[in-house]
Amino acid sequence: MKKVLDWIDDRLPVISVMKNSTTKYPAPKNLSYLWNFGSLAMMALVIQIASGLILAMFYKPDVNLAFSSIEHIMRNVEFGWLIRYLHSVGASFFFIVVYLHMARGLYYGSYKGPRELLWIMGLVLFFLMMATAFLGYVLPWGQMSYWGAQVITNLLSVIPFIGDDIVIWLWGGYTVGDPTLNRFFALHFLVPFIIVGFVLLHLWALHVAKSNNPTGVDSTKKEDYIPFHPYYTVKDLFGVAVYLLPFLFMVFYLPEYLGHADNYIPANPLKTPAHIVPEWYFLPFYAILRAIPVKELGVIAMFGAIAILFILPWLDKSKVRAATYRPIFKVLVIIFFLNFLFLGYVGMQPADFAYHIGSFELPLVWLGRLSVLYYFGFFISLMFIHKIEKTTVPKELLEKGLDNVKNNG
Ligand code: HEM
Repeated sequence: MKKVLDWIDDRLPVISVMKNSTTKYPAPKNLSYLWNFGSLAMMALVIQIASGLILAMFYKPDVNLAFSSIEHIMRNVEFGWLIRYLHSVGASFFFIVVYLHMARGLYYGSYKGPRELLWIMGLVLFFLMMATAFLGYVLPWGQMSYWGAQVITNLLSVIPFIGDDIVIWLWGGYTVGDPTLNRFFALHFLVPFIIVGFVLLHLWALHVAKSNNPTGVDSTKKEDYIPFHPYYTVKDLFGVAVYLLPFLFMVFYLPEYLGHADNYIPANPLKTPAHIVPEWYFLPFYAILRAIPVKELGVIAMFGAIAILFILPWLDKSKVRAATYRPIFKVLVIIFFLNFLFLGYVGMQPADFAYHIGSFELPLVWLGRLSVLYYFGFFISLMFIHKIEKTTVPKELLEKGLDNVKNNG
């Protein structure tokens, strides 16, 4: 067997490339469980593609059949309900994992040099995931599918001069209709494979820069690294088991919990639902969109909220990566996470929601505006805080590290 494998490897070195970049890959020995989210995201992607492929064998992308083809999958197809719930709950869990993965990167400064491109590839993945999720949500052709598609595609109409034409081109007609559903299905099938391609680039960039770690200092000492296998393969597998517990609990016991009841009403272009709400993972961005009364500016702010993450590696001027040794950054980034959750809450409420404290009325949209200010203010502050922040990387760590990490001040 070894001879056969060596023969193949001499001609096409897939095995040695795989070995060097997986089993033998030297990983920092101090990675915490927060470094499990990358492998969990990969597993979530595999679950989505496998379950999606089976769903595609029974689904009909036709406005007259789509809704009932989903009911057919749920009721008649052998284990169709399970495959569908693995896919719909799987999408939510994929986002939970990727949000935590991004939060880990933000907290430990994994976006800073030399991992800028790794971070940017990650953001491309995030953007493609959001596109795929949006396209997929249209497919069941329920009320939320239809009206969600209306609201989101209409956002493009704010592009000066050509906006309206772009929207019509995207719809394939003068309204969201059969051509729209058909092309959304084609794209929803295609984009995950583009995601797979970007995951490979993401991992390639990771293997060049190597993993960051909870200290944020890249050690130059060999003894600070261990081979990926068996240490991290076992740790990642443990993570998979922990992930599967709540995931399967939701699939079997609360499969509709994160969905919207209105999507069990077939799409009706003549009846707008009282509240059009996107899936939970879009809510913080939806809140940013609605916080600004001028539609054009709202759209710019919403896309800006993602765009600003692309320039983050250059906005943050601190020499120290991890929040572990950055006292001011640590507070600001924790508030940023809480603020992001709050934006999600704001996005979930009706646009005119207000708190009544005695005779005083406090519209939620005003609190939402403050949150939007903090969202952007946080990134801007990273250009300046290094001037006043006394970072506390211990001397022995600095001595081990490459000289790209230095205490500020
Ligand atoms: C389909 C989605 C994604 C997959 C499958 C994926 C996969 C991975 C894997 C396997 C790792 C190595 C293990 C780890 O550090 O957790 C990793 C690292 C990393 N990912 Fe992702 N990722 C995805 C999305 C993202 C996103 C959206 C971002 C950020 C915008 C991102 C940023 C990073 C960074 C900065 C690292 C290096 C972290 C470090 O070493 O500290 N990834 N990713």
